[in-house]
Amino acid sequence: MNYLLRLTLLTLASLGSLIASEAAASSASARQTLSLNGRWRVIVDPYDNGYVNYRLDRFDAAAKPTGGYFLDEKPATPSDLIEYNFDQSASLNVPGDWNSQEATLFYYENTVWYRRLFDFQSKAAGMRQFLRFGGANYEADVYLNGKKLGRHVGGFTPFEFEVTGLLREKGNFLVVRVNSQRKPEGVPTVNTDWWNYGGLTRDVTLVETPATFISDYSLQLKRGTSGLVSGYVQLAGATGPQAVTVSLPELKLELKASTDKDGRAALEFPLPQATLWSPETPKLYELVITSGADQVSEKIGFRTIETRGSDILLNGKSVFLRGISLHEENPLRGGRVTTPDEARLLLGWAKDLGCNFVRLAHYPHNEYMARAADELGLLLWEEVPVYWTIHWNDPSTYANAANQLTELINRDRNRASVIIWSMANETPVSAARTDFLKRLVSLTRKLDPSRLISAAMERHSPTEDPKTSIVEDPLAEVTDLVSFNQYIGWYVGTPDDCPKVTWKVPYDKPVLISEFGGDALQGLHGDRRTRFTEEYQADLYRQTLPMLEKIPQLRGMTPWILCDFRSPRRALPNIQDGWNRKGLIGQNGTRKQAFYILQEFYARKASAP
Ligand code: GCU
Repeated sequence: MNYLLRLTLLTLASLGSLIASEAAASSASARQTLSLNGRWRVIVDPYDNGYVNYRLDRFDAAAKPTGGYFLDEKPATPSDLIEYNFDQSASLNVPGDWNSQEATLFYYENTVWYRRLFDFQSKAAGMRQFLRFGGANYEADVYLNGKKLGRHVGGFTPFEFEVTGLLREKGNFLVVRVNSQRKPEGVPTVNTDWWNYGGLTRDVTLVETPATFISDYSLQLKRGTSGLVSGYVQLAGATGPQAVTVSLPELKLELKASTDKDGRAALEFPLPQATLWSPETPKLYELVITSGADQVSEKIGFRTIETRGSDILLNGKSVFLRGISLHEENPLRGGRVTTPDEARLLLGWAKDLGCNFVRLAHYPHNEYMARAADELGLLLWEEVPVYWTIHWNDPSTYANAANQLTELINRDRNRASVIIWSMANETPVSAARTDFLKRLVSLTRKLDPSRLISAAMERHSPTEDPKTSIVEDPLAEVTDLVSFNQYIGWYVGTPDDCPKVTWKVPYDKPVLISEFGGDALQGLHGDRRTRFTEEYQADLYRQTLPMLEKIPQLRGMTPWILCDFRSPRRALPNIQDGWNRKGLIGQNGTRKQAFYILQEFYARKASAP
């Protein structure tokens, strides 16, 4: 798989701009991009029959089954035996999970074969072409015109294949096998508290670039400096030093540099007049990078994020992270987010709540989320699905987690909104687990030293003193923040226990409560001691907030969760019905009482952080 590619023009029709991401580089001028979104033919294949077609061409024992769905075969004669036909099969929307599109696939966790036909006219001779997938859950085998391009494992990060020389002007057939089975050695493993939405859940595009193109860049304000930007521009396909121009037209700034033998140009320049990006002033500047026949442009913001003791500093000023957690699901239709509008809908609700921060749980969300957060002014925590009982001793599991983290960081490294990379969620402490996570921390520091690192860590209570909660996790030695989930009042005791709890957090680092909350069915009312009523949930928030404010290092929180979300674990009839009800907003988009408790708290924090 070709990892030289970082930038893509999603589609002229959809965004009309460029978005730095893990994919083929492209530009508004030097490149052509074809969206392959739309209706794709599909064959549901729980036995993975699609790998072979049992037609045997000869009688001798040496004959092997030939064919397979990836060949998109048609009978050459009436006597030919071919037991599939994409042209007469069902179809699904791409992007989109299959579970929420077809009732018969609601619980389906296996293989679906997708096929897309398309024509392609290259823009000019000598161009290069790349097939880019925004994400496919969980395992994707990709074939073009009958040739296997490769496999991607991991359900939430982009990947691409170079297809230069493999395309026809007419009648290309792209076949993708997507398998969503959960696997013990997977990332995540078999047990989660969210719906395992399978399919080609994100955009599919064909991108064309010049032979030498801009494949990656990074421009960041250096911490501790007043307006010094450093970074790099990386070319792919360069055969020697090449001129690069970086411009920020609004700031009347144009820089020229030359790439080295590896196609990389290092940059450092002052940026004295820029308005720094923040939730209050989400200022984005158009950036244009040109080199040879290639040009990329997109909007980026400049800001710094750092910690000092137990404080978090955004652009050198102390900030309290008024957050909320979020799954990548549109509750109004119960399926994966697939469009910029859906991303803006959910993040707009977070803004209504009074948030300046959102935890994109528990896996990399659609790349539209970070772009929407850049525009709306929301800081982001992004994470990989190293969740619960991962196989810490399995090298393939670590390689998978490291690859997903790398693909996420490479995709979103230029999003000002992203301030925290999270390594894991609620992973029982063991030597193998801490070693696994510390390796991920080292990898992250190498890939992106400019952001903060955290994870939802572990807490415990001494058996002899259950009212004391101690946050002790060896991982906290190497992270910038100490974050943890706590459910006193829901899984532990009742809300009336909150005032009796003492917290001990023995670290001089900022503390971020990455989850707390309780279930309530929107519209179900009763007294505050009746579980699943809005009154119980509201009381839980009312009693939790003052308890947490007693933690001296408290610098933020992301209560669980903005919206109700689907989970096969939640089986209580007429209350859960397959939904986790901890949302502050019901699956119908209606706010619960607890929404207003938190909104009032955040309004107070916004005026006196
Ligand atoms: C856990 C977990 C979440 C889960 C939540 C709950 O903390 O991190 O993914 O949904 O608790 O039980 O509702």
